[in-house]
Amino acid sequence: MRNITYDNITPTVVQAYSGAEDARTGEILTLLIQRLHDFVREVKLTPGEWEAAMEVLARAAATTNAERNEFILMSDLLGVSALVDLMEGHQDKKATITTLMGPFYVPGTPVMGNGADFSAGNDGERIVVYGQIRGTDDAPLGGAQIEIWQNAPNGLYAVQDPDQPQHNLRGTLHADENGNYAFATAKPISYQVPEDSAGGELVRAGGRHCWRPAHIHLMVTAEGWKRHISQIFDVNDPYIDSDSVFGVRAPLAVPYDQTPSEEELTRFADIERPFNVTKVDFVLARA
Ligand code: BEZ
Ligand code: FE
Repeated sequence: MRNITYDNITPTVVQAYSGAEDARTGEILTLLIQRLHDFVREVKLTPGEWEAAMEVLARAAATTNAERNEFILMSDLLGVSALVDLMEGHQDKKATITTLMGPFYVPGTPVMGNGADFSAGNDGERIVVYGQIRGTDDAPLGGAQIEIWQNAPNGLYAVQDPDQPQHNLRGTLHADENGNYAFATAKPISYQVPEDSAGGELVRAGGRHCWRPAHIHLMVTAEGWKRHISQIFDVNDPYIDSDSVFGVRAPLAVPYDQTPSEEELTRFADIERPFNVTKVDFVLARA
């Protein structure tokens, strides 16, 4: 029989997993085992530290349910989700950079007219967000679907807060035939990702904070083009350079405090004043 030792355990484990039917699964498993073992050797992980790590994972599992996935949050807080998105979401450099979807997306929100005002019933200043949806060929994507969601002035998303109307500050609109879209909303505020479980422990252990800068989530879909997930950040937010989940991308950070021009006041004459404006175009990559 073969004796398993410190020197041969890594190739032994790799060999034990060498029967994967799918080549990609085999590639991932091999590298995962090698890197995990290298990590354990390099940090000289002690049994006590290993046990503590397993307890953190158990707490993450205990917190995870249909509405909340602590493992995704830990991936976000470690920058892994952002790295995966940066690799996948920006292969076509002509397209606008994408970012994280986050956990608060709800499919099938009410369809509102282009130019709708989402701010009704919410405190906080109003902002009009507008721009154009185009493809990387520069042609406007008329009729593109834009789903929007954000937090309320109390920092909570409607899914987190039973006191908010079901679809508060979220909805779906469609760009006009020239790809132009517009909506008004109440300015979102910075908020903390949940810190009451393993994700919070991780952040505190690293001497960080859980804050995210204020942002409006958008998902743009148009047939023949890649689904585009974005967030529009307030460039002047105090957490703009220390987002707990590493989601900020410079092209998506815009001022939330711009005074509308005469032309914008005319264009958005139906929207209750006062409001600020911000213009953001989105260029989608081909599917
Ligand atoms: C969010 O943007 O809503 C979010 C993203 C990642 C983790 C937690 C929240
Ligand atoms: Fe968010």
